[in-house]
Amino acid sequence: MTFTVAIDGPAAAGKGTISKAVAARLGFAHLDTGLLYRAVGAQVLRGVDPEAAARALTAEDLEAEDLRRAAVAQEASKVAAIPAVRAALVEFQRAFARRVGGAVLDGRDIGTVICPEAEVKLFVTASPEVRARRRHAEQVAQGADDPYEIVLAEVRARDDRDMNRTDAPLKPAEDAVVLDTSDLSIEAAVARALEIIDMRRGQGASG
Ligand code: CDP
Ligand code: CDP
Repeated sequence: MTFTVAIDGPAAAGKGTISKAVAARLGFAHLDTGLLYRAVGAQVLRGVDPEAAARALTAEDLEAEDLRRAAVAQEASKVAAIPAVRAALVEFQRAFARRVGGAVLDGRDIGTVICPEAEVKLFVTASPEVRARRRHAEQVAQGADDPYEIVLAEVRARDDRDMNRTDAPLKPAEDAVVLDTSDLSIEAAVARALEIIDMRRGQGASG
């Protein structure tokens, strides 16, 4: 059985949290595709050519310690606008999506470009202020001290680059269900996502 759940949306909307919970509940594999772009961004900050970095990416690169840094996130959204970088990462993501047993992929273009045939597509979003507050809280918990206003500016800069690039811009697929988590607890957001997935599974979607 293959079954693909595509979860897209802007930074700190709750994609990763929802994806992990849903994958655990359904016994599906999970791929955070943002890590691919972050890993390329981290290499570029070390002086490597972006396309070369994307072509040479290994599973180990996705486990590097520094990928969550704010500077890496910004660099990730810059390299993500380069078509040759995106092209080098497509096949790995598609193969992951076709895994027997089911897969959840989260990112920006999973429902639109990587897996247009996904059985379920969710577009998880929240206001920029709510997302910046969440990211700021995470950074404070990790000992970083950028003020909220800086985190909000970074979120907006990344939204802007991700939504306005020519190749695979961030936008909901036409057949995506939009899930606004601005006023939802994590538990409520996960429950809603599972309801939507169960509905599609009940309709006998399979491949
Ligand atoms: O993957 P993405 O960047 O979309 O977001 P995330 O890493 O899943 O969530 C960002 C932060 O928001 C995490 O600290 C979550 O615990 C938190 N969150 C929340 O407070 N309420 C939600 N409904 C979803 C996530
Ligand atoms: O966790 P967060 O939502 O903050 O970011 P991420 O998912 O780790 O993605 C980092 C950056 O990679 C994004 O701002 C995008 O520019 C890029 N990205 C992309 O272009 N396509 C994807 N499928 C996933 C990430």
